[in-house]
Amino acid sequence: MTDSHPRISKAVIPAAGLGTRFLPATKATPKEMLPVVDKPAIQYVVEEAVSAGLHDVLMITGRNKRPLEDHFDRNYELESALQKKGDADRLTKVQESSDLATMHYVRQGDPRGLGHAVLCAAPHVGQEPFAVLLGDDLIDPRDPLLARMVDVQEERGGSVIALMEVEPEQIHLYGCAAVESTTDGDVVKVTGLVEKPDPEDAPSNYAIIGRYVLDPAIFGILRRTEPGRGGEIQLTDALQQLAADEKVGGPVHGVVFKGRRYDTGDRSDYLRAIVRLACEREDLGPDFRSWLRSYVTEEMQAP
Ligand code: G1P
Repeated sequence: MTDSHPRISKAVIPAAGLGTRFLPATKATPKEMLPVVDKPAIQYVVEEAVSAGLHDVLMITGRNKRPLEDHFDRNYELESALQKKGDADRLTKVQESSDLATMHYVRQGDPRGLGHAVLCAAPHVGQEPFAVLLGDDLIDPRDPLLARMVDVQEERGGSVIALMEVEPEQIHLYGCAAVESTTDGDVVKVTGLVEKPDPEDAPSNYAIIGRYVLDPAIFGILRRTEPGRGGEIQLTDALQQLAADEKVGGPVHGVVFKGRRYDTGDRSDYLRAIVRLACEREDLGPDFRSWLRSYVTEEMQAP
């Protein structure tokens, strides 16, 4: 690897949102700390970055986000209590989150949208390509996506986004990409992007899911990006600029993901994510699945 193409090592995780869809749970607790089975949602995301080889994690936070910093820090009092009790299993679980990655935090201040959150990472990231992971999307660790995106970025340069085909009536919930095929079956060239289009205006059914590997040229573009959909500075709008002019930061490619993705963005999806992940857990799964089976049978028999 030469200096002109440094290995990607930094991950940026925007976590400044207010989590209003989960009130009152999120009145005093960041939504990123809500448990998915027995781990806060945000820990899955940091673990995913680390498994893709990104050990430097910058979280973009805001007011009321102290618990995030505490979670990824040591808790000596708890550790010594568990040590005294001889509870090695729980001690390991407590230490895992503080040993995961080198964590950094920056506050967004004014929440002016995802594009603005990413722009807050500019001083930390510098001139290297970097990854962005959105906390509402959990990717099953058995279906690695980010590592593939990092490889594609290293081969093809520019930026790489994660795409997933969705039902046409769902596309208004996502950024949507116009694409052309490439020689790699799971890689497409992105020719245009639009944030949350009405179904009749959508150029395809390829939805952006919350994983990006970005060329640092995105920062210059974000600085000039006017507020878009919802009055917010949209990352999708800046990516559209990149896709429209390859001279600025290279091409934009998409990796088409066909694996397991769990959405924790709203309450129903969050509940589904917990049920699915609990079913797959070796320790909890067998009991939970058999309870679930009889619960569903009862429900189906109910009048
Ligand atoms: C954001 C992005 C959108 C993307 C989505 C993926 O939207 O703006 O382009 O498709 O994440 O989860 P949000 O869901 O934060 O409104």
